[in-house]
Amino acid sequence: MVIYENGRDAEGCRIEFSVEDQHFVEVGEKIDREKYPASEVVDLEAKLVTAPFIEPHIHLDYVFSRDPKRGLKPQGTLFSGIENWSKMKAFIPVETLKENARRAIRQQIKSGVQVVRTHVDVTDPELRGFRAMQEIQKEAKPYMDIQLVAFPQEGMMSYPGGAELVEEALKMGAEAVGAIPHCENSREMGRESVKKAFELAEKYNRLIDIHCDEIDDPLSRFVEDMAKEAIDKKNGPRVSASHTCAMGSYAPSYFFHLLDVLKKAQINFVVCPAENLHLQGRGDTSSRRRGITRVQELMDGGQNVCFGQDSILDPWYPLGSGNLMHILDIGLNACQLTEEERIWHALDLITINGAKALHVPDEAYGIAVGKPASFLVLDAGDAYEAICMRARVLRSVRRGRTLFVRSTQEFETADPYIIS
Ligand code: FE2
Repeated sequence: MVIYENGRDAEGCRIEFSVEDQHFVEVGEKIDREKYPASEVVDLEAKLVTAPFIEPHIHLDYVFSRDPKRGLKPQGTLFSGIENWSKMKAFIPVETLKENARRAIRQQIKSGVQVVRTHVDVTDPELRGFRAMQEIQKEAKPYMDIQLVAFPQEGMMSYPGGAELVEEALKMGAEAVGAIPHCENSREMGRESVKKAFELAEKYNRLIDIHCDEIDDPLSRFVEDMAKEAIDKKNGPRVSASHTCAMGSYAPSYFFHLLDVLKKAQINFVVCPAENLHLQGRGDTSSRRRGITRVQELMDGGQNVCFGQDSILDPWYPLGSGNLMHILDIGLNACQLTEEERIWHALDLITINGAKALHVPDEAYGIAVGKPASFLVLDAGDAYEAICMRARVLRSVRRGRTLFVRSTQEFETADPYIIS
């Protein structure tokens, strides 16, 4: 039995809990230590306790494939990224793919991430990347749960045999079906790819996560097709629409109709604010669009929204670290989620909202009696301070096992003005 005492919850109120056999035994304001005389006691020093961070959208098979010294074509668009990746992917050794993924995972672990959804490119007849990421998924299991999305980067319909490769990856065990309808050769093929993704998900009983409308074109409306399919199949909570950047350019008359449809569909929205600030609006010559979906309206309309990193130094994005506190800070500012009430609840965007999108079972996530003892301690006294400070993770515990503890002693100085 381990008793964690003197922690703080989101509002800054005292929280303590006991852990045994990898699970929370007791959670409350005060644990009576005399009830457990032989326990180890850990003082959380009045720091914020939160559920682990959830990365709902990354490409672990792409990370660190960009050499910042060599440079890439400077357009910085989604389509130039796809073109560059298409040319280079066959030449990256499998061992390099795996080593790069491990490097990203180490960074994610140290940033408090314990659950990851990675989209893996399956537009490759040999599925090299997918096989490599399956190995990584197994290897990383003690540290994080990884979901693999069978993602046809070059188009499920446009890439020769794309749909068959997606299906092959599902047979091999991919947890979710992907698609990229706005990148197909025609609108019809895009719609067909959405339909196919839902068919395959039904056939193999898998989740769905579609790169959807990641383009500034206000006529890109594949999210409507996704909503329609989700309503028909009644599987909205198992479905995520990633990006939906075009929604930011929809006319209000269309958007508010769409919002009504989305309320019926109840799909999840995965937003990658840093990546899309970088990629979108490239064709705008003035007043560049932010390229991010309508986060405020979706949230206020009752939709589930979460934030993800998407890329770390890959052909699409020249930055990134895997630290979701950075992504959250960028997203809150870019989406103007800056009313105090939203800031108090902002951590939801990288914790419980992500868990919902990834369909993590309720009994497997969160700080409550009987659930697996997975949690973080952040260097802040409450949720608001954590956001202001982009707080570091001081402690990460996964199913009762401490992954790391980080010191709060940041500075080598005794100067009271600096350290007080
Ligand atoms: Fe992506």
